[in-house]
This record gives sequence, C-alpha cells and structure tokens, in this order.
Amino acid sequence: MAIIYNEELKTFSLHTKNSSYQMKIGKLNYLYHLYYGPSMRDEDLSYQIMQYDRGFSGNPYEARNQRIFSLDALPQEFSTLQQGDFRISSIEVSNGDGSYSFNGRVKSFKIYDEKYELKTLPASFSTDKDHVQSLEIVLEDEITKVEVVLLYSVFEEAEIITRSAKVINGGSESIHLRKIMSMCLDFMNGSDLEVLHLPGRYGQERQVERQRLTHQIHTISSGRGSSSHQQNPFVILCNKDTRENAGICYGTALVYSGNFVAEIELDQYDQVRMLMGINNKQFDFELKPGEEFEAPEVLMGFTDKGFTGLSHMYHDFFRNNMCKSKFVHEYRPILINTWEATFFTFDDVKLVEIAKAAKKMGVELMVMDDGWFGKRDDDNSGLGDWYVNTNKIKCGLNNLVEQINDIGLKFGIWFEPEMVSEDSDLYRAHPDWAMQIPGRPAVRSRNQLVLDLTRKDVQDYLIESVNKILDSANIFYAKWDVNRSITDIFSTELPGNRQGEVYHRYILGLYRILDGIVKTHPNILFEGCSGGGGRYDPGMLTYFPQYWNSDNTKPIDNLKLHYGTSFLYPICTMGAHVSEANPNIPISTKGTVAMCGTFGYELDATKLTAKKIKECKRVSKLYKKYYPIIFYGDYYRLTNPFVPGNLTAWSSVTKNKEEALISVVVTNLTVNGPQEYIRARGLNPDWKYYIDILDQAVSGSVLMHVGIPIPREVPEYTSYQYHLKHVRK
Ligand code: DGJ
Repeated sequence: MAIIYNEELKTFSLHTKNSSYQMKIGKLNYLYHLYYGPSMRDEDLSYQIMQYDRGFSGNPYEARNQRIFSLDALPQEFSTLQQGDFRISSIEVSNGDGSYSFNGRVKSFKIYDEKYELKTLPASFSTDKDHVQSLEIVLEDEITKVEVVLLYSVFEEAEIITRSAKVINGGSESIHLRKIMSMCLDFMNGSDLEVLHLPGRYGQERQVERQRLTHQIHTISSGRGSSSHQQNPFVILCNKDTRENAGICYGTALVYSGNFVAEIELDQYDQVRMLMGINNKQFDFELKPGEEFEAPEVLMGFTDKGFTGLSHMYHDFFRNNMCKSKFVHEYRPILINTWEATFFTFDDVKLVEIAKAAKKMGVELMVMDDGWFGKRDDDNSGLGDWYVNTNKIKCGLNNLVEQINDIGLKFGIWFEPEMVSEDSDLYRAHPDWAMQIPGRPAVRSRNQLVLDLTRKDVQDYLIESVNKILDSANIFYAKWDVNRSITDIFSTELPGNRQGEVYHRYILGLYRILDGIVKTHPNILFEGCSGGGGRYDPGMLTYFPQYWNSDNTKPIDNLKLHYGTSFLYPICTMGAHVSEANPNIPISTKGTVAMCGTFGYELDATKLTAKKIKECKRVSKLYKKYYPIIFYGDYYRLTNPFVPGNLTAWSSVTKNKEEALISVVVTNLTVNGPQEYIRARGLNPDWKYYIDILDQAVSGSVLMHVGIPIPREVPEYTSYQYHLKHVRK
C-alpha cells in the first residue's frame, strides 16, 4: 500500500519504492509534518519533536497553560495564519469580517485508489502501469468554515509524490484569498540544507546556482506573468555534500505557467520551511460562499542517489505521466526552421527553395516561422490577424503545403496567439481586447500588447482562428510562441475589486485555449516557445512534448543550457538546432550539441555550400541512428560546464544498458596539459562494450573507473560521439 493511515498513531505514511513521507494528526488536531526521506516502516516519527517554552512563540488558547506548545516550533504540513507560527504561512485569507486568520485543523480525510484530478489546471496523470493512491485531508477553520483540502497522489514506482491544495469557502460570507501555497515542506533541522535552482535570462536560460541557506527567507520567483526566462519553477533542496552521483536531494516542481514563488526559510531554531505555489504578487481572489479555488500541482521527488538520481526520476515522470501528446513516445522528425534563415523576408517561392535544399541535408520537416500572416513584414504589426498573407504566400497555404509535401517534407507553422499588434485588424476592431489599465497607456514590449485572455470572447476568437488555419492544410507541426512579459494587469471584464484575479485568470484562459487547440489536434506535433525557453515549465509540457530551449543557438552556450535544463526536463523535450552562429565551430560539433535535444536546423539551406550540405546530411543520419538512445535512454551529466575545464561531456544509456552514446566537446585546450579521461556512467560493469571510435571492446567497469582518453592534439571545438555497444559472447 502506498498510503497507510495508522488509526492508533494517527499517522499518514506515504510510501514510494524508495522513499517515505509522514504526517500525523497531533494535539488539537493540527497536522504535523514528520518526515520525508529514505523508506521507513510504518512507525511514529513524532519522537523527533522536542518541546520547550520558547520565548515569543505564541501558544493556541486551547493549549491552556502548556507554554511548550507552539506552532512556531512544531513542524506543520500546511502552515496556518495568525495562530502563533511566525514563519512563512501557506495561506493568507481575509475573512468576511476583514480579519486575516486561518486556523486549519484536521476535519476528515479519505484515501482512494486513483490519481486525484484538478478541474481547472493541468496536472500529471496515471497510466495502467502505475500504482497510484491518493489522499485528501480536509483542514477546517471552525470559526470561518473555510476549508483547505490537501491533495496527495503517490506514484510508487515513479518515486514521485504529487501535491495540490484546494480552498473551499464553506462560510456564509465572501472571502479574499491573498496567498495559497500548493506545498509546505517542513524540516525539523535543516541547517545542512542547500538550495539549487535555475536562474537565467533571455538567451541564457536555466543556468545553475547553488547556495547555502542562511537565516532568512530565500525567495525564488517570477512576477512576469509567466514562469519566465529569469527563474524556473523548479527548486532542489540538497545536503551540502550532495553531488551528481550521491547524496540527498528533494526536488520540487510546480505545474504552472504563470507567476510562481518558492520561499525557503531557515528560522531561528534551524528549522527549514519551504513553500511553493502561485506568487501572491497582486494576487487577491474572491471566493463567494460555496466557491472553491484550486492551487497548482507540485511534483515532489526524493532520492539519496544525487542529482542524477533525481533527474532520472523526473525525466521518466515527464515522459510517462506529464506530457499528454502521443509524440512524447514518437520519433520527432528533423526540422528546418525559417526564422534565422529569412526572418520576415520570404515568400512561397523562397520557402519551396529552402525545402528543396533542406531535403538534401536529411531534413524531414519544414517550419514556416513568424511572418506568414496578416501584415507582418517586421515585428511592429500583424499579431492577432491569423489569416494567410497572400502577398507572401501567393499560392495559398494549402498549395504551399502540398508543394512542400511533394518534396518529401512535412510542414509546420508558427503562431503567437496571446499577443496583438496595435497595427492589426484585430486591434482596430477590438482595442479593448488588449490589456490596459484605464487611463494609462499600455507598456509596449517588442512593440506588442498582450491580449486579455481572461475574457471568454478573446479565448473563443483565438481557438477558432488558430484552429481554422490548422485545419486548412496538411499541417504536421505548430510552434506556439510568446514574446514578452505581461504588464498592464487589468481586465475590463472584472470589477475594480477583482483585478487581483487577473494574473491567475490569464493563465486559466491560456490553458482553456490550449485545451481547445492542442487537445483537439492530437496528430499535430506542438512545440512551445517563449522567445526561446521563457516559459519552459511543467505546465506547458503537459501540452507540448517539446520546447524551444533558447534563441541562443551558439553551441558552447548551449552546453550550459542543456546541462541546466536537464536537471528537471528530459532531453526529448529540448528543442536544439544547428545554426550559422559561431561560423568557426564545425557543423559536426554543432550537430553533437544539437543532438542533445529535438534536432533541427535554423539556417538558410539555399546558401550552404555543397560541402556543408553533405556534412549536414552526415549529421542528420547520425541523429537518426542515435535517436532511440538519446530520447528513451537515461541521461548523465558527465562534466559540469559551469566549472572551468577543457571538456564538456554527457551521455545517454539505453534502459537495458545495451547501448550508450558518450558526447564530448573540446571547449578549451591547455597547452601541454595533462591527458584527460571521460568516465562513463550507468553501464553494466560486468559487460564488455565495443567502442566504435576506439575500435575496441572495454568492460563497463573499466569504462566507468578509468574512462575514455580524449585526444589532446586537436583543434578547439572538436567533438566526439563515442557509441558503445554491449558485446555478446
Ligand atoms: C522568438 C522565437 O524564439 C524565435 O524562434 C522566433 O520564432 C521568433 N520569436 C519569431 O518572432
């Protein structure tokens, strides 16, 4: 059983294959959090709690004279508000009488045999292969009758516990929700913990930073209306000695694409509390009597096998239980994207020329990027007008697609549905559809405004106009872009006192639009994009099986981008292309790097020399050969590109360990330096592996212990792909 309630001890124990999580209904029916860590038996772990009369830590009135009973010093499963716990609270609610208070205590619970469901938000799902059990615990404030339902699903085999929370206004007056966290995770002593997260910026997404906790509240958040380039809704808490292949880590990933926050507090007694959920920046959600609010899901994972162990858990979970598109399990054709080839200057004839040249490179899918619709000759106009610009696509979309298909390529198309240009028919017809604060000119970014996705009429327009294009021709692929952060948070559809709902309602609107477009087109391969990887998050990946990693296609920068992104996201979700950036780096190396993702090209194929076309063809062939290892195997970070060195290496090993691909890029060359070796990981130590480049078989054990010598006397930016195959004798 994945979830056990012990009647006598009043404990809830949640067990995955190798981890356990425990809560207990404690004194006065408060819900304590007792444990998250390596598997344990069904024992009562409240022995850890030591209680003292802590000065300035208040005591609930019902505790009478027990001055040692304070929520400020007890581990909480969902921290309360105004009950003497001065640490970060999981909820902030203004009640009907204007008071800010929530005294949540266990009212009831239920355990059942399937994954819980969220009605308004994307979430993970279980398949027939998973043993999933769920638990719902209702915490009630007896005075206001406000309830918080804590939801848990335990994926035993996948080692993931998902969590969410639902607020129900069971009282007779409206309440205002000002903060609601999806996850609260308390540690009775966390002084050894460190935090690892993925900050970045445009063109340099998901870099890796790791810090010790100090006595303060550490905040990792986005307030840009989307999960953003600048932060990612993924945080690891680890021990100070945790490294790639060993050590304790707790992963937390929020399935949400809007403003988020992770707060980590190391308090006065070295207790650690981590919260994760929707950012409460400008958040104020009214709940009338009987109404409820769903908080997004958090994916929690624990391992003592280091960062690699944690990444493997998440990679499998995304592949099996997050991404709903069938393409997550299918071959992704090699694509060529027109953006860096032509920008806005193209017509149907040029596209056909590119397709013909690309075919010779081994390309299988041609993507027509920005510029095919409305009046769109630069990025100052046209957004919102989702109909074909017949000055450019003179033959019509259907005919163009047929020509591309006749060449032997599938066809893909670009959209940026959430935005509008002031110079567009849509804006001229519906200026009120763009978000704008009354009386104030809206903030422009890339000279575009944001559509008010909270409005149903806007949602319906987008669903209809995008679907019309998708259904008008043989479209195999669609790229969903979004190219600015959101400002001017105001919706004319909501009264003044409900503008605090706009950020969240925008995301709810976005998910409804995606349901209406992506879910109704299961045979179209969708790729997410936000000026590169600006909204690359678990919520988006429930819709899109792949996401454009970054507008930065420089291969050496991409070594870091892939490294950081791989902490949470599997390789099969990372868009990576060979481009003309860094002309001094050979195509073979660009190919090696781009094969760490959904492979493609971002260049004008008509301008390549015959030699380069041939080289691209060779690289495309390799991608096809190695595709099953890279996409379905286990990924290993073999070096850390953030640490100065000469080589960056990574590998993929098939699940059955029969084959592996070790990729190495020489990023620097120290004159007359020592010989360097790249040690393999994840092989069967007892098997022999034939290595193609060395033309030799070496045992897995030796390869993991000694490694492969990487030639020194080579030009910088040389790369190697060592293909290892189990030799059966
Ligand atoms: C930003 C994307 O990241 C690019 O790939 C391209 O699609 C442009 N937008 C088009 O405007």
